[in-house]
Amino acid sequence: MNIFVVNGPNLNFLGKREPEIYGSKSYNDLVNFILSFGQMAKIDFEIYQSNSEGEIIDIIQNNYHRFDALVINPAAYTHYSYAIYDCIKSIEIPTVEVHLSNVEEREDFRKVSVIAPACVARFYGKGFNSYIDAFTFLKKEVEPYDN
Ligand code: DQA
Repeated sequence: MNIFVVNGPNLNFLGKREPEIYGSKSYNDLVNFILSFGQMAKIDFEIYQSNSEGEIIDIIQNNYHRFDALVINPAAYTHYSYAIYDCIKSIEIPTVEVHLSNVEEREDFRKVSVIAPACVARFYGKGFNSYIDAFTFLKKEVEPYDN
């Protein structure tokens, strides 16, 4: 199985940004964490990060056909990007939304995800392990139907 992981704005600042919320580990640590899970679980990953909405849409549109699933942490775009919602609706692979922090227990604006209705599942609040929950879900729910 191969999974495309797309991370949105400010996630490249992990470790520096609000460590009390996002932890002290860096973006590079997140990438290595995902890749080593992939080796163990036999999942191939490509991992991408961008701070811009248009770039996120371009990278999804140009690459989704090479993957079984998309896991996206749209970061702040989660809460208002109908453009990313439309992009996810227009691709034929299942998409899972993830967040490091518990978006349901922070500011009110973070409780709204305009992306969620385009996704098959969402996982949040477990730090790096939110991603593992998404991959485990996809292995269980999607991989058996691959041919
Ligand atoms: C986030 C939560 C978003 O509300 C926030 O804008 C982020 C990160 C998370 O992973 O917890 O940048 O997506």
